[in-house]
Amino acid sequence: MNFEFDKIINRVGTSSSKWNKYTHPDIIPMWVADMDFETAPCIKNALLNRINHGIYGYTEPPKELPPTVAHYLKSEFDWSIDTDWIVWLPSLVVGLNVVSRAFAEKGDAILSNTPIYPPFLSAPINGDREIITAPLVWNGTKWIMDFDALEKAVTRKTKAFLFCSPHNPTGRVWDVDELNALITFCRKHNLILISDEIHSGLILDRNKKHIVTANVSDAADISVTLLSASKTFNMPGLGCAYAIVKNPTLRKKLKNEMNGIVHHVGALGYTATLAAYSEGKSWHNALIEYLRVNRDCVENSLSDQSHLTTYHSEATYLSWIDARQMGVQNPSKYFEDFGVGIYDGALFGAPGFLRLNFACPRTMLNEALSRIQQGLSASA
Ligand SMILES: Cc1ncc(COP(=O)(O)O)c(C=O)c1O
Repeated sequence: MNFEFDKIINRVGTSSSKWNKYTHPDIIPMWVADMDFETAPCIKNALLNRINHGIYGYTEPPKELPPTVAHYLKSEFDWSIDTDWIVWLPSLVVGLNVVSRAFAEKGDAILSNTPIYPPFLSAPINGDREIITAPLVWNGTKWIMDFDALEKAVTRKTKAFLFCSPHNPTGRVWDVDELNALITFCRKHNLILISDEIHSGLILDRNKKHIVTANVSDAADISVTLLSASKTFNMPGLGCAYAIVKNPTLRKKLKNEMNGIVHHVGALGYTATLAAYSEGKSWHNALIEYLRVNRDCVENSLSDQSHLTTYHSEATYLSWIDARQMGVQNPSKYFEDFGVGIYDGALFGAPGFLRLNFACPRTMLNEALSRIQQGLSASA
């Protein structure tokens, strides 16, 4: 089946966060992680059916949804879960905030790596917990965790590790040895391992596969896995995510923290998630093919630029770029003046870097890449 990833859809006037950010109408927005593609037809049809019903009352997870999630996790990642382990959430960012409060007390600390998706840095602070970070290091081939730096950073007050797998923004797909090393580290320091796996459906390298952290060794006992269909199927505006928590004590703590505060998932979020996981496979496969070519376009276009280093994205639709050699104060602002809105790495804990979202129709991507080239020529 053919899907229309090349189709340009005007999002102006839809109150899109991505397209509302820049007041100048000519800036191509490549910052926040949502895609400029229509979602899978099966999802759109399921939503249209639900909308046609006309009553949008309080809604419980459809009874087919938990087994469908379990089936999806088994078939995609060979992870067997019990449906009782699922805790529904309105978004992953809500999840990051509630886990920070559930598994650390006020004044305690939470550890993570930088660069990292900005809410990892703000969620602990929002709840008066401290965030401690250790940088990932470039080993000449890939970004890796630095366990010496983590050992130095961890304190007796550190209660949890916020982990991102696959990693936003570097696009790393962690291998089993890296996951085992992290699990050993967390066990040694009694840390709850929070694994945000929202990008797990976006593995681009053919020789890589996503390994669920909680499915390695006996990590499930100390793990909370945060997931959603929203990134893979481009529906983050519908608000449906979930945590998988095997350990009943951790699950109870999480639910207690949510009680009365965290809003339930809306009817459309459940409907869309059910359709995505049960009928979305062919669209998903086609999406990955399209994103892989877009990824290659970005990496080929920017590879011979001496002032930019673009790291290979094994997963996600995000490119992580070191712009420090450009010699401009604020590279994100600089490229905005050339008509491309790229995320500022400073927000990820890495000033001088950029994160570029390449999930858009190819003509739009090529136009953006040519504007970046113009910006680079002007700065040389
Ligand atoms: C690693 C990561 N976690 C969470 C989110 C946001 O999830 P949600 O929209 O469900 O809050 C994103 C969005 O870009 C992300 O990259």
